[in-house]
Formats: sequence, C-alpha cells, structure tokens
Amino acid sequence: MADKTAKLIFDDKEIELPMMSPTAGPDVIDISKLYAQGNVFTYDPGFTSTAACDSTITYIDGGKGELLHRGYPIDQLAKDSHYLEVCYLLLYGELPSAAQLEDFESRVTNHTMIHEQMMFLFRGFRRDAHPMAIMNGVVGAMSAFYHDSTDISDPWQREVASIRMIAKMPTIAAMAYKFTIGQPFVYPRNDLDYASNFLRMCFSVPCEDYQVNPILSRAMDRIFTLHADHEQNASTSTVRLASSSGANPFACIAAGIACLWGPAHGGANQACLEMLREIGTVDRIPEFIARAKDKNDPFRLMGFGHRVYKNFDPRAKVLKQSADEVLDLLGVEDNAVLQVAKELEKQALADPYFAEKKLFPNVDFYSGIILEAMGFPTSMFTPIFALSRTVGWISQWKEMIADPKMKIGRPRQLYQGETLRNYVDIEKR
Ligand code: ACO
Repeated sequence: MADKTAKLIFDDKEIELPMMSPTAGPDVIDISKLYAQGNVFTYDPGFTSTAACDSTITYIDGGKGELLHRGYPIDQLAKDSHYLEVCYLLLYGELPSAAQLEDFESRVTNHTMIHEQMMFLFRGFRRDAHPMAIMNGVVGAMSAFYHDSTDISDPWQREVASIRMIAKMPTIAAMAYKFTIGQPFVYPRNDLDYASNFLRMCFSVPCEDYQVNPILSRAMDRIFTLHADHEQNASTSTVRLASSSGANPFACIAAGIACLWGPAHGGANQACLEMLREIGTVDRIPEFIARAKDKNDPFRLMGFGHRVYKNFDPRAKVLKQSADEVLDLLGVEDNAVLQVAKELEKQALADPYFAEKKLFPNVDFYSGIILEAMGFPTSMFTPIFALSRTVGWISQWKEMIADPKMKIGRPRQLYQGETLRNYVDIEKR
C-alpha cells in the first residue's frame, strides 16, 4: 500500500493517485488506473518522465554521474571485476563465489560454437552487408536452430537461452565481420578468455594465428563491461516491449539489436568516428562546433550528450583512461583522428553552449577511438556494443518474465487525425 498520494485536479474531477518510493531515485506516481478513473491519458513522448517497470538490476543517477549494477559502481566493476563476472552479477543479482564463477564461465565457454548449418545463413548475405544487418538476421534466426530454448514459460529453457546468447554473440559478431571482409570464419577456442577469444576470432587467419596482447584483451573486456547494461534505454525497452507479447528470446534480442543500430543510440560510436574523420584536421573544429550550435543545421556532435547523464558519463571517464593505455601500447598518439578527438573535446567543453545544455562526451566518444586503434573498422563498433549489451537485455528480459505484474506493453496516443468521415468512390475524388 502506498504511504503517499498525489492529487490530480482537472475539469470538475479530483483524483487521488498512489505514490511509490524506490530504494534510490525519485518517487513515482502510479497512474495505471488513471484512464479508468478519469477518462484521460498522460502524454510523455520519449518517456522522459515515465517509469515503465519495476527493476532491481541497474540504477543511474544522471545528476551525479553514477551508474550502479545491483548496487556496485561501474568504475569499481571496470577496475576490479571482469565481463563474465559482471554478467553473473546482472543475471543472478549477487557477485559469484569462486565456485559459482567457475561453473558459470564453463557453461558460457561450452556454448560458444554455433550450429554448423548457420554458416549458410551468413553466406546468404550480400558481400558488402553491414555486420549489424547480419547480426540482426542471424540472432533472430537462432529461434529456428535452438527450439529447445524458446518456451518462455519454462525457467530452465530461459536459462539455457540466456547462456546460449551470451556465449554465441562474440562468435556471431566475429563471423559477421569475417564474412564482410572475405576471410574464412575462425571457430572459437575454449582455452581463451571471453575477450581474447573474440579478438582472435576477429583477427586470426588460417595462415597466421593471432597472438592476443593481454593489455588489448583487458581493454576489450573493459569495453564489454562498460556496455553491459544501462537501465531502461531504448534498446532494452524494445526488448521488454517485444517480449511482453510472449515472443521467444532470440526474436526479442534481435529487436534490441535493431533498435541499438540507430545513430542516436549504439550507432553513435560509428557516427562519431566518421564525424572525426570528416572534420579531418584540428583547424576545422570551430566550423563543426558552430554547425552543432546552429539551430538551422541538423548536425550534432556525435558522442556528446546523453538523455540521463547531465553531469558526466561515468563510463566515459573509465574509457578515457583505457584509451590512453591502448594508444600508448599501440604507439598511435600521433594519429590524426585522435588529435581531432582530443582537441574537439577540449574546445566543446570550454564552449558555453555545451556547458549550458550539459553536453559532455559520452561512452561512444572514447569507445570508437579505442576500437579504431585496435584495428576494428567503424562498421564493427555497433556490433561490439550489441554483443556487450546482450547480457543486459537478457537480464532485463528474465526479470520481466518472472514479474507477476508483467502485461503486454500497449501505449496509447494523442490522436490528431481526421475524425469519422465517409469513404469517397475513386471517380468522385
Ligand atoms: N550536439 C549539439 N547539440 C546537442 C547535442 C549534440 N550532440 N545533443 C543535444 N544537443 C542539444 C539539442 O539541440 C537541444 O537543444 P535545444 O534545447 O536548444 O533544442 C538540447 O541539447 C537537448 O537535446 P535533446 O535532443 O532534447 O536531448 P535528448 O536527451 O533527447 O538527447 C541524445 C540525447 C540523443 C543522446 C543527444 O544528446 C544526441 O543526439 N547526441 C549525439 C548522439 C550520441 O552521441 N548518442 C549516444 C548516446 S549514449 C549511448 O547510446 C550509449
């Protein structure tokens, strides 16, 4: 029972609405009975003020620049933990014991291969397909290959589907990459850790094995960790909405991948690098900053701004440090893109427009720079984000399926169209 209520007064009506308090963050006003009680809808395009579910997984305080997974701050997890441990934490709610972690890692490792017939799917794509298009198709098609883990009412099948997706996503992303560059697929190797295995599947060729550098593998793992989950963002909400109809998990994660692809979301890291290349030289930065500030120009500084973080993005802080380590190791400090990135960051942060609108570099600003230095083409940036975020999507999906309050998502609208009118025969129009 709610201990506080809010009052809504309109026309000649006064409606009392229950309020609920979270463990952290602002109180929420429960409007779920508002239509029944007052015959009105609420209006919130983009869901800027709407909590759509209960969740215990991730908490963000955008004002403080805080991101917690199950209560643990992201900077501690990025520094002291690693991706598969964070996956366990997100999926099961607590940090694992040594035995639990070993068991989890071995379960994931034993599912890294994909069904051999899935190779035909890859080969059906055009040679120049974007790897996100391939991932979207292949992940959706998993429901045609793994029938024994599509019954969402069976907790065991939900568990198997979760492990399968976490385990196979690096294999699928790497194969999508290999296909687009015309190289043979590299099968996973279970003696390598998650990040090293992914790097090897991307960069090894049959005539020359890829030796994984531990610094690069650590940086890769950190990128995975920093992207693992992010509360009810657009792609996660897409996964929840798709699964609210009871669709199978592979179809729902494919829906999340589709949403993530957009340049306002996961596609921003690719768009950011392309923008840095377009700027080209440091002397052109003022021109692009002026364009970003011009109301009549749709151009925005990619990798800047965030719907929730209005102070700084804590993931960007960790990645900035990682970027320095990786670039140092690879000896690419003089790289032109990097010089433009560093100078752009400096000039934008000193500009009152960006300060007033609270626009700071987000995680995509630095991830693109690291991935480029590691040798990934820009088209692989968003697939890497998708593979990292898979655990977040799955954790949120599992939470939703187990929630007794779950019902099909069905927003309403502010209808602005024609009212009833009669059909007119074609010769009379
Ligand atoms: N460059 C220039 N101006 C910007 C930028 C930007 N990158 N971002 C926001 N603004 C301005 C807007 O023009 C707007 O100005 P106005 O109030 O004068 O109209 C104001 O800041 C607020 O912007 P909104 O679009 O209303 O903010 P919203 O919270 O809806 O958008 C978003 C957030 C989509 C991330 C936006 O900042 C953006 O487009 N950034 C660039 C793309 C990007 O980097 N996306 C990655 C997000 S992080 C992630 O997905 C992992």
